[in-house]
Amino acid sequence: MKISLSPATPEAWSGSVLALGIPHDDPQGLVEAMEQRFSLQLTDWLSQKAFKGKRGDLASLQLLRGDCTTLVVVGLGDADAVDRDSLRLAAASAARATTGHGGSLGLLLPWGSDDPAGDAAAAAEAVRLTLYSDQRFRSKPEPSTHPERLELLGQWPTGLEQALNAVHPVCAGVELARQLVAAPPNSVTPMELASTAAALASEHGLELTVLERADCEARGMGSYLSVCQGSDMDPKFIHLTYRPSGSVQKRLVLVGKGLTFDSGGYNLKVGGAQIDMMKFDMGGSAAVFGAMRSIAELRPAGVEVHMLVAACENMINGSAVHPGDIVTASNGTTIEINNTDAEGRLTLADALVYACQLQPDAIVDLATLTGACVIALGDEIAGLWSGDDALSAELESAAADAGEGIWRMPLHSAYRKGLKSLLADMKNTGPRPGGSITAALFLKEFVDRGIPWAHIDIAGTVWSDKGRGLNPSGATGYGVRTLVNWVVSHASSPEA
Ligand code: BES
Ligand code: MN
Ligand code: ZN
Repeated sequence: MKISLSPATPEAWSGSVLALGIPHDDPQGLVEAMEQRFSLQLTDWLSQKAFKGKRGDLASLQLLRGDCTTLVVVGLGDADAVDRDSLRLAAASAARATTGHGGSLGLLLPWGSDDPAGDAAAAAEAVRLTLYSDQRFRSKPEPSTHPERLELLGQWPTGLEQALNAVHPVCAGVELARQLVAAPPNSVTPMELASTAAALASEHGLELTVLERADCEARGMGSYLSVCQGSDMDPKFIHLTYRPSGSVQKRLVLVGKGLTFDSGGYNLKVGGAQIDMMKFDMGGSAAVFGAMRSIAELRPAGVEVHMLVAACENMINGSAVHPGDIVTASNGTTIEINNTDAEGRLTLADALVYACQLQPDAIVDLATLTGACVIALGDEIAGLWSGDDALSAELESAAADAGEGIWRMPLHSAYRKGLKSLLADMKNTGPRPGGSITAALFLKEFVDRGIPWAHIDIAGTVWSDKGRGLNPSGATGYGVRTLVNWVVSHASSPEA
C-alpha cells in the first residue's frame, strides 16, 4: 500500500473511499460540506442511522460516483478529548469499511495535536495493520481487496513526508510477528525460527549466531535444555545482532520466550488450559524477531541491539524431564522443577545469563509466561516487572506512544520465599496466588545486579480472539511497536 500526504480538501479530493473522522458536534462543519459536495441529505441520513459522532460510531454510504464511490463517516467523541489512540481507532474503522474496494482511501482526521507527523504515522500504521489478512494456510487463498493507496488529507507543513518513512518498516515487523505467532507448531519449529533468523540476517545485514544443543551443553545451559529433553526437535539458541554504522553509545538486549509448542510436559495441560493454542507460546520471540526486522530497516544510530531466543518445544517422551528433577543453569544455580509446565522461565534463565555476559546497558524480556497475568490484566494489557524505575518509565512511555497496553506490576521480593526448595537453590514454581510475580522473581535470579532489566508478560496480549482496533482476530504482533519505540528512543542523533 502506497501511503502519502495530500493537501486536497475533502470537498476537492477524488478517489474511491473518502473517510472523515468527525468529533461530536462536528466543529469543522464537515457534514454540511459533504451535503453540498454530493448533494445529499446527509444530516438526516446520519440521524436515521443514529450517528452522533460518538467514539466508535460509523456510517458508510455508497455514492456510486466516478469521483468517489463510498463516503465513510467515523465518530471521534468529544473534540477536546481526541488523542492519538482515538485517531488510531478511527483509522482502523475507516480501513475496515473499505473492504471490497480497490483504488484509493482518502482519510481526513483532526491532525490538530502538537505532533501532526506522529499522528499521521500512527493513522497510517493503523490502516495497514487493520487490513492485514493471513491466507498462508488456505488451499485457495482469497485475495483480499483493499485500497492500494492511502492518502492522508490535511494542510501539511512541508517536509513532513519523512515522518511516514518508518510506517512500512514498523508494520513489516508487526506482520512478521503475527505470521510467526499464527503459524501452527508443525510449521514454526525451533529450526524454522533459526531459518527465519538466517533470512533476516542475510536480507537486512544482521549478524547471526545459532548455538546448537552441544554448544548449549558446553555452556552449561542445563535449565534451558531440560525443557526440550522430551522433544524430537533440536533446540536452537538464536542470537541476532544489529550494529549501527557509527560509534556505539548504548548496547541493548531483547530476549524473547520461544516455546514453539508448550504441552505442559508431564504436568500436561488439561481441561481449560488451552493446549491447542500453545503455538502462541513463542509470542515473545515473535515480538523480538519483528522488532529486529524493523530496527534493521530503520538503522537507528548509536545503539547496538542484540536479540536472544532460546527456542525449543515442551513435549513428553521417555526422556522428558520428570516433575521433581533438579537441573543446573549456566550461572550454577540449581533448580528443582516442581512443575514442568513452568518451562518458559527455565529457558529464559539461561538466556538472561547469556544476556548479562554481553554487558549491556539494559535487558528487556518478553514472554507468554503466565496464565496468572491473563487473569490479572486480560488480553489488552501486558504486565511489566522491573526493579529499575527509569527503565520502567521508558517502556511505559514507548508502549503509550505505540498504543499498546502495559501496566507496571510489583516485583515484591517477600514472595521470593514461595520459590524455596528443600534440596535445590530454588524451585521453578511458587504458589498459585501471585503466580506472575513469582515468575518474574524467578527470572530476576538470573540477572546480574547492576544491569537494568525489565520483564514483560504478554500471555494475554499475544492473541485476540475477537480482534480489536487495529488487530484483526488472531495474532496481534504485540510488543513490536513498543520495542521499536524504546530502541529508537535510545538512538543518538546522527550528528552526534
Ligand atoms: N505458556 C504458559 C503460560 C500461558 C498460559 C500463556 C495461558 C497463555 C495462556 C506457561 O508456560 C505456563 O504454562 N505457565 C503456567 C505456570 C504455572 C505452572 C506456575 C501457568 O500459567 O499455568
Ligand atoms: Mn507452560
Ligand atoms: Zn509456556
